[in-house]
Amino acid sequence: MAIKKVGVVGCGLMGAGIAQVSAQCGYSTVVREVSPELLEKGLKGIEKNLARLVEKGTITEAAKGEIRARLQGTTSLLDLKDCDVVVEAIIEKLPAKRELFAELDALCPPQTIFASNTSSLTIIEIAASTKRPQRFVGLHFFNPVPVMKLVEVVRTVATDAAVYDEMVAFGAKLGKTPVRANDSGGFIVNRLLVPYLLDAIRALEEGAGSIVDIDNSMKLGCGYPMGPFTLLDFVGLDTTYYISEIMFDEFKEKRFASPALLKRMVLAGWYGKKAGRGFYDYADPANPKPMEL
Ligand code: CAA
Repeated sequence: MAIKKVGVVGCGLMGAGIAQVSAQCGYSTVVREVSPELLEKGLKGIEKNLARLVEKGTITEAAKGEIRARLQGTTSLLDLKDCDVVVEAIIEKLPAKRELFAELDALCPPQTIFASNTSSLTIIEIAASTKRPQRFVGLHFFNPVPVMKLVEVVRTVATDAAVYDEMVAFGAKLGKTPVRANDSGGFIVNRLLVPYLLDAIRALEEGAGSIVDIDNSMKLGCGYPMGPFTLLDFVGLDTTYYISEIMFDEFKEKRFASPALLKRMVLAGWYGKKAGRGFYDYADPANPKPMEL
């Protein structure tokens, strides 16, 4: 099946990135948000990213115009009815995702392939809300989507082998390196990343070093682009806490258990960069200051 039209549901950080990459890679793309305000915010972000690419000389002004012309924003799910692939990137709540896919299932022709960008939920539990679990995969992108070169392509017990191969090829056509992952908690990346981030918090709790020193250790000693606390603030403490809870529930292993400090910071609403406060205080965003915890 030739993929021509791609639907993206959700125009937040991840959805907007996926829609941008899809349009940049030549696909006619329609992205849906629930309200005109949220849609406009997402599209403005894409516009800004494309303008930056023109400024840097990565793409021409004409190419930007073509990308923009391939990208349609909508608040109506009906506009996704003729898509060959629909990628969902909405809130990480199982009931919301199941409800959305049940609706899409009734709307889209049987050959449309469905994909979820969930980072933590079990794909088969979402796929089971449709009558086409064999045409359902996980497509897990990484933030910032236009920059990060990986996509995890997740296969469930029900995914058809040909559909899966097609989605692996689709991931490559989006300019990413696709990795084949099974539908187990956290797939590949979060299975390794989440215990590492939680361990950094435990190291801080146990006094191994300060926030800045632990960050610098991993950044400068191991060549990571961001230290663990900068990355925690970037990913979101709420998101990390939520993923760790799901993974702990699946594996019942201590390495996935949330440290007390993380839970308390989430309860305080210190979600990281997006909240202006996490392990760092972003009152001056260009010069974040470590929190005194
Ligand atoms: N959108 C688009 N482009 C962006 C961007 C964004 N939000 N942020 C940065 N960029 C681009 C910049 O324009 C720049 O492009 P050029 O090299 O072409 O000029 C490039 O990325 C590098 O940016 P900067 O020089 O500003 O900063 P940097 O070198 O520190 O890179 C970074 C920024 C790419 C975010 C880098 O710090 C990094 O890779 N951090 C780690 C990110 C990471 O681990 N992400 C995965 C999180 S886990 C996840 O997403 C999934 C999950 O399930 C939790």
